[in-house]
Amino acid sequence: MDILRTENMTKRFGGVVANNDLSIGIPEGEITALIGPNGSGKTTFINVVTGVHPITSGKVYFKDQDITGMEINRISRLGIARTFQKIRLFENLSVIENVLVARKSFYKSGPLSVVLGTPSFRKEEKENREKAMELLELVGLEDNAYDSPKGMAYGLRRCLEIARALALEPQLIFLDEPAAGMTRDEFKVIMNLMMILKEKGITILLVEHTMDFIKAVADWVYVLNFGQIIAKGTFDVIEKDPLVLKAYLGED
Ligand SMILES: Nc1ncnc2c1ncn2[C@@H]1O[C@H](COP(=O)(O)OP(=O)(O)O)[C@@H](O)[C@H]1O
Ligand SMILES: [Mg+2]
Repeated sequence: MDILRTENMTKRFGGVVANNDLSIGIPEGEITALIGPNGSGKTTFINVVTGVHPITSGKVYFKDQDITGMEINRISRLGIARTFQKIRLFENLSVIENVLVARKSFYKSGPLSVVLGTPSFRKEEKENREKAMELLELVGLEDNAYDSPKGMAYGLRRCLEIARALALEPQLIFLDEPAAGMTRDEFKVIMNLMMILKEKGITILLVEHTMDFIKAVADWVYVLNFGQIIAKGTFDVIEKDPLVLKAYLGED
């Protein structure tokens, strides 16, 4: 079953058709990769589906519920999380606080019990810290919990961004170039993390450029060029597709 699907989704920015009639299905519990040259519409796809940008035409369904045009916070509460191509962290908070802030929608205590530090709030706070620490362990940041993210290596900052997205306990996560700019070792951490998330039953849509990475983790691949789907299938199938080769290598 597809956890998310788009029907004839089109997104225009003025005269630019960034997504052109996309019907994309993301199978539940699997890793789907969305690839394509720069400017082919990958980030736009994520932005439209998660409610950042309004759709021009077409439909988006999450677990068969029509979420077209739904407000961004409502979409995230349904269980859809994402990371950004450009990392977004709270630089003045510690690593663990960055995760805790992302979990704020889980807090049941009202503002007054927070200020008064009531027992129910303290219990909730303790549970949230435990959960945040679990997430930091998952992404390999348990030793950095009380550091500032400011001076951290790029790959670790990326991992923190993923932990923040996971703090929403999503069923579906969009990762926009999670391994961009990473060293070989950091890269392996992210690849391993993909597999752990999959084992936990989280569905992943991965935008990525490194073909080794896609080959290793993706169950399915969609290839975009100029906003349109030019190929879809397993990696082994799409890597031989003449349209895909042409899109990546040019006319020759
Ligand atoms: N907010 C925006 N305003 C105007 N044009 C945009 C905006 N976002 C993306 N585009 C345009 O849409 C096209 C697809 O961009 P994008 O989705 O970022 O591609 P990719 O992520 O595949 O590199 C590009 O031509 C880009 O310039
Ligand atoms: Mg992009």
